[in-house]
Amino acid sequence: MSKNATTHHRNRRVLVGVTGGIAAYKSPELVRRLIDRGCEVRVVMTRGAGAFITPLTLQAVSGHPVHEHLLDADAESGMGHIELARWAELVVVAPATANFIARIAHGQADDLLTTLVLATTAEVAVAPAMNRQMWLHPATQANLDILRSRDIRIIGPGSGDQACGETGPGRMTEPEEIASLLAGDPADMAYAGRRILVTAGPTWEALDPVRGITNHSSGKMGYALAAAAADQGAEVILVSGPVHLQAPAGVRRIDVRSADEMLAAVLENLAGTDVFVAVAAVSDFRPARPAEHKIKKSPGEDTMTLELVRNPDILATVAALDSPPFTVGFAAETRDTLANARDKLAGKGVDVIAANDVGGADSAFDSDSNTVTLVHAGGEISIPTADKYAVAVDMLREIDRLLTGG
Ligand code: PMT
Repeated sequence: MSKNATTHHRNRRVLVGVTGGIAAYKSPELVRRLIDRGCEVRVVMTRGAGAFITPLTLQAVSGHPVHEHLLDADAESGMGHIELARWAELVVVAPATANFIARIAHGQADDLLTTLVLATTAEVAVAPAMNRQMWLHPATQANLDILRSRDIRIIGPGSGDQACGETGPGRMTEPEEIASLLAGDPADMAYAGRRILVTAGPTWEALDPVRGITNHSSGKMGYALAAAAADQGAEVILVSGPVHLQAPAGVRRIDVRSADEMLAAVLENLAGTDVFVAVAAVSDFRPARPAEHKIKKSPGEDTMTLELVRNPDILATVAALDSPPFTVGFAAETRDTLANARDKLAGKGVDVIAANDVGGADSAFDSDSNTVTLVHAGGEISIPTADKYAVAVDMLREIDRLLTGG
């Protein structure tokens, strides 16, 4: 989610960091793929990485001695850690363990690689690899948020069978894909030259100056889509209800509160938009007459009746325009998810509905992961459970296919 996500790293000086996970066996392949793209590569290994791969392998593929120790007099007399930090135009750590991510999130510099990350002014990217529960743990997710807020690019992870026997998110992204993303190969910049408008978060419908009608949307799904689209080269406008998230790097965010404000911001910024994705949980109704001053309860008043009026449907409004962009809505359902999604597809006249469950323990609301089914005129596409950024990447790939008829 880096603001540098569109930087192309062909022919660059790249420092590859390898930490101690089973996916370290893929690191030599990453070195080769970067060299294929004209990069000069130096490798730094942590002590844990040595349990999975030898320095000799990485030296052979990179063509340079591998750096392992912070306090190594020989290494410091050659290219010491500060020189390495200055030399690099890009630092990519693959695999990046949960422990490594935690250490750099908290500014620890207790080995060569963490010290380099603190000392460099180069762009930093990490490709996490870990057990799915470790990936989904709130501590890891909070650390990743810190990294994103510092413009450290998070690549992946993918989802699938894991070395530990479990299935889910946490597999390191394949070396070819990492190198390709960093190099900005055209295939991975599918949204370059496209403009995407995303709505995210809840709306707030004021009842009086201090109270309002809202919902549990955290904005995470919409922000993940905005970030992933920006990472793939799109110009992204994010119309956001009130949330506690930072705008992803490279995304233009417009803050709104009510459904009326959200509709106005969307219509004002729609010209030239190729894809409109309505992720916001918009209140269907608002108080008919919001009070100017705080509503007071009167003695003996045991009930209160609120009159609500219908809010505009932002998604349906956009889809009904003369030449609408490709429109994608979400369906937040607690039962009959797919049937309701199909009704919304037809009822709102949109190209795709992303159905997700918001009932029960696995609710998509305010969680870090999601499970989505894309419903479109030609059928259904299942997006496996993964963290919301990975879901966003999968969704964008499928949207691109539907858009281009691929
Ligand atoms: O924000 P998070 O915590 O990450 O949670 C994500 C999410 C659960 C909010 C998200 O994945 C989601 O499902 N968003 C849609 C929520 C919703 O309002 O669904 P709906 O079924 O009520 O609306 C259907 C579609 O119409 C949505 O695309 C919605 O944005 C749009 N809509 C609805 C009402 C309205 N007045 N205007 C709209 O544009």
